[in-house]
Formats: sequence, C-alpha cells, structure tokens
Amino acid sequence: MKVVVTGGAGFIGGNFVHYMLNKYSDYKIICLDALTYAGNMDTLTNIMNNKNFKFIKGDISDRKLVYNLFEDEKPDIIVNFAAESHVDRSIENPEIFLKNNIIGTSVLMDACIKYGVTRYHQVSTDEVYGDLPLNRPDLLFTEETPIRTSSPYSSSKASADLIVQAYHKTYGLPVTISRCSNNYGPYHFPEKLIPLMIVNAINDKPLPIYGTGENVRDWLYVKDHCSAIDLIIHNGRVGEVYNIGGHNERTNLQVVETIIKEIGKGKIIFVEDRKGHDMRYAIDSTKIHNELGWLPTTAFDEGIKKTIKWYIDNKPWWENIINGEYQNYYEKMYGK
Ligand code: NAD
Ligand code: DAU
Repeated sequence: MKVVVTGGAGFIGGNFVHYMLNKYSDYKIICLDALTYAGNMDTLTNIMNNKNFKFIKGDISDRKLVYNLFEDEKPDIIVNFAAESHVDRSIENPEIFLKNNIIGTSVLMDACIKYGVTRYHQVSTDEVYGDLPLNRPDLLFTEETPIRTSSPYSSSKASADLIVQAYHKTYGLPVTISRCSNNYGPYHFPEKLIPLMIVNAINDKPLPIYGTGENVRDWLYVKDHCSAIDLIIHNGRVGEVYNIGGHNERTNLQVVETIIKEIGKGKIIFVEDRKGHDMRYAIDSTKIHNELGWLPTTAFDEGIKKTIKWYIDNKPWWENIINGEYQNYYEKMYGK
C-alpha cells in the first residue's frame, strides 16, 4: 500500500506518519507538506532514513506539483491533514485559510479522480458543528448535528467537508471524513492551549487564559486520533462521516490548573477573550465505536503527564520554534 499523508510535518500528521510506519512495515508513506510556519522537519528527523518513508515539500493547492506526485507514485490512499489550523490566526487573516483548506482539498481530490485512488480521507474537525451551551451537558455533537460554524477556520473546514461530499456524490470518489475533538500530545505547535501553557510554565512566563476560562473542550490524546483514522481508511464505509472524541471534557481553567500542578509552577493571567469564542465542544463517538470498534485508550490524566514529560525531554524541538518567527506572533497576540 502507498499512502500519501499531507501535512505530515505538522502536529497530528507527524504523529500519524510515525504511527503508520511503526504499524505497517510493508506500507510506503509519502509525506507532502508545504512547510508553513507550522510544519517542522525536526518532527520527522528520526524517520528521514526509513526506506518506507519519503518527504516531498509542496503545497496541496499546487496542481502541477500534486499531479506530478500522483503520476510518479500512484498512491492507493490519501489522508489529508494539510491545513491552516489555528483559530486565532484565522481571525487575523482568513484568506490563507480559504486557499489552503478549501482550494487545496479540491486540487487533491481532482488528482484522486484523475489517477484513481481507493480512498480519499479528509481530516476534519468537531468545530464544523459550532458550539454547545454550558448548561446542557446532555447535548453532544453527532454526525447528524447541522453544520454551524463560528470562525473563518471552522468555516473553511466545513466548506472543505461539503466539497468532499460533493465529489463523492457527483464523481463517485471513494471518500471518508472524520471530525475529531481537540488533540494534545507530542509535536504540538506551541501556539495552541496545552503546549503554550506547558512551555510558558517551564519558562516562568504568564499563562494567558482567554475570558473567564469556562470554555470547555473535549481532549483526545493524539495517538487515539491516529488509531481512529487508521481504522476508517481501512474499514470505514465510503461516503460516511465519523466523529472522534474522548468523552474528556475539561474547562480551559481545569486544563491549565492540571498543567501547573504537574509542572509545579505557573501563574495564570486572564486576558481579552477570543472573538466569537466557542463555548463548549463535546463529541458523541458512538458510530465509530459501533461500526469499527474504536475506543480511546489514553485517559486525560495519563496523557497530560506523558505530554508534559515529552516537552521537558524535548526542549530543543520547541526552543527552535519559540526562538524564531514565533516571537513576532507571540508579541502581537499577547504583547498587551
Ligand atoms: P498543524 O498546524 O500542526 O499542521 C498543519 C501542517 O499542514 C503543517 O505541517 C503545514 O506545513 C501543513 N500545511 C498547511 N498548509 C499546507 C498546504 N497548503 N500544502 C501542504 N501542506 C500544508 O495542524 P494539526 O493540528 O496537526 O491539524 C492537522 C489537521 O487536523 C488539520 O486539518 C486540522 O483541521 C485537523 N484537526 C486538528 C485538531 C487539533 O486539535 N489540532 C483536531 C481536529 C482536527
Ligand atoms: O476542536 C478541534 C480544534 O481544536 C481543531 O480543529 C483546531 O485545529 C485546534 O486548533 C483546536 O481549536 P481550539 O480553538 O479549540 O484550540 P486552541 O488550543 O487554540 O484553544 C483551546 C481553548 O483554549 C480555546 O477555548 C481557547 C483557549 N485559549 C487558547 C490559547 C491559545 C486560551 O485561553 N489561551 C490561549 O492562549
């Protein structure tokens, strides 16, 4: 089997590349990544010499490059992680989200039709369902929940999902879509809540919580997301959407307090709220459990300890990031 993993130099794509190479010794994994600010070759260092792995630098919206890749490699499966992924950046600059997340997806699917693949998998997000109220813990997102987005990021992901479904219905492309809740774990870019708080606590910098910190996210250890996608691309039903989540709801304040307790230090500051800030995400993953037997295996208390240990043991990985262009981003976001 040949699998093209787009966005494999990013957080989840990088974890997925490692997961697949470890699990399938007879698969060839080809990573296509544009190496935007979020892509990091350090995430792939220890597999660059693996004979089953190939890295190609390129943009998924570059039609010529994508077609050449498909012509040369004739892949069986495409797993599309490549995207602009940070909500705050989408609020500052929506346009790049439309190009990378929507146009890029359509170019990839055109190549899938032209060269024939057995499966195109779109890695989507629970954010396409909008948010849930705090006072209705009984409500969860199911695959039937209407699309109702909040940010330019989630709107671009929802647009891509609709186009993926259109390519299935109109052209018969064998697609699947997964919509996952918030991931955490190794190789997570330190602009996102959990790695930002870990890195700041280690470096004795303030821990900036937006608004009141009551917003709730449903946290999933990244390896559990990888195992779910592995099941979907092999056994999932074509044309279907699968929700993925850990039943692991925490307020942002609870998450940050856990990090402070584990690291043994850290000072919270409350800062201006995110515009259009979604209140609560919570996933019902009954469908993937019933159809494919998937269940998460890492509890939050265990996963957060492993994650903190990874950041303590792998300082050069994140110090390279925070000492670069990230400083300008941080100053703009948190300087005030
Ligand atoms: P990330 O920002 O860490 O990584 C994205 C990767 O995609 C980077 O390596 C970047 O260089 C690459 N990329 C971006 N635009 C590209 C383009 N046009 N062509 C080629 N490569 C490009 O993102 P992540 O957190 O790993 O998220 C991966 C995917 O999973 C995204 O599609 C995101 O919407 C989805 N998702 C993320 C989460 C989460 O909690 N992080 C949860 C659910 C779904
Ligand atoms: O739900 C899945 C989504 O999870 C993915 O689709 C996105 O790609 C991913 O970035 C993530 O989106 P969130 O906006 O939920 O994640 P983020 O880590 O940016 O923020 C998590 C929560 O923490 C959110 O309520 C905002 C808050 N926050 C975030 C940062 C960066 C803070 O309070 N302070 C911060 O400094």
